[in-house]
Amino acid sequence: MVRVIVCGALGRMGRRIIELSLQDKEVEVVGGVEHPDCIPSLDLGEALGKEELKGKPLTSRLEELLPYGDVVIEFSGNPTAAVGHAKLTALEKKAIVIGTTGFTEEEIKEIKELSKEAPVLLSPNMSLGVNLLFKLVEIAAKVLKDKNVDAEVMEIHHRFKKDAPSGTAVKLAQILAETLGKKKIVHGREGHAPRSEDEIGVMALRGGDVVGDHTVFFLGFGERLELTHRASSRDTFAKGAIEAAKWIKGREPGFYTMFDVLGL
Ligand SMILES: NC(=O)c1ccc[n+]([C@@H]2O[C@H](COP(=O)([O-])OP(=O)(O)OC[C@H]3O[C@@H](n4cnc5c(N)ncnc54)[C@H](O)[C@@H]3O)[C@@H](O)[C@H]2O)c1
Repeated sequence: MVRVIVCGALGRMGRRIIELSLQDKEVEVVGGVEHPDCIPSLDLGEALGKEELKGKPLTSRLEELLPYGDVVIEFSGNPTAAVGHAKLTALEKKAIVIGTTGFTEEEIKEIKELSKEAPVLLSPNMSLGVNLLFKLVEIAAKVLKDKNVDAEVMEIHHRFKKDAPSGTAVKLAQILAETLGKKKIVHGREGHAPRSEDEIGVMALRGGDVVGDHTVFFLGFGERLELTHRASSRDTFAKGAIEAAKWIKGREPGFYTMFDVLGL
């Protein structure tokens, strides 16, 4: 049994993670953490309208719940809060699975430093399909390196998403940059200049209720290859986060990704 604490418990992802955890006999939700301005009641069951969760606490103070949980699942969508949650969790030597995106390089460094003290899993995308896409993009880029092919990334998300480009698009661009030996990542284009050979373009579209689409284009002369992933439900990410929580419980301190969970 894995006892989980969900940060961002009343958000789009937090709700799905809690709902799916209730259907999983190996997982127990011990409580939820929310922003202090977004706590309608101190009872998670009442806040979510779930009889099964009656009596489980909802708080803005993660430290109150840490003694009762094994793994924190962090989807607050607030990078500063997420780093704070990772610090508190590492202090207690408990594990954390971080799904929040939009971290600065400095914040990622801080999180990696904390993984010396406790197990930390960070992944901008917990779906099996996207993690496979990361691998496929690397394979394609290795084959197409130095073949006069331009690589570009496009993503689409719902109108409420705060960070742009998505953490997944950033990771895809990083894989391309490293594998193709390119130095410049260009976010959107405007003006009068042809594309330089050394760049990878990243375009972010926002609108409606799109759960998450990502396409990597390899644009050559006479042909092009497109690798696309489309998420049609948040449950694919929520299930991934729950699998990650089961996997990380009891692990040695270290920095992990979904590749470790999925054996990719
Ligand atoms: N890794 C993945 O697979 C994956 C998949 C989907 C979304 N995401 C990311 O997860 C994050 C959340 O996405 P969402 O669509 O659920 O967002 P959301 O805005 O619907 O939910 C975030 C919730 O966190 C709460 N929150 C804000 N500050 C907090 C704090 N300090 N402490 C505790 N709770 C706090 C908000 O009140 C809200 O209820 C985003 O960063 C998103 O990009 C990751």
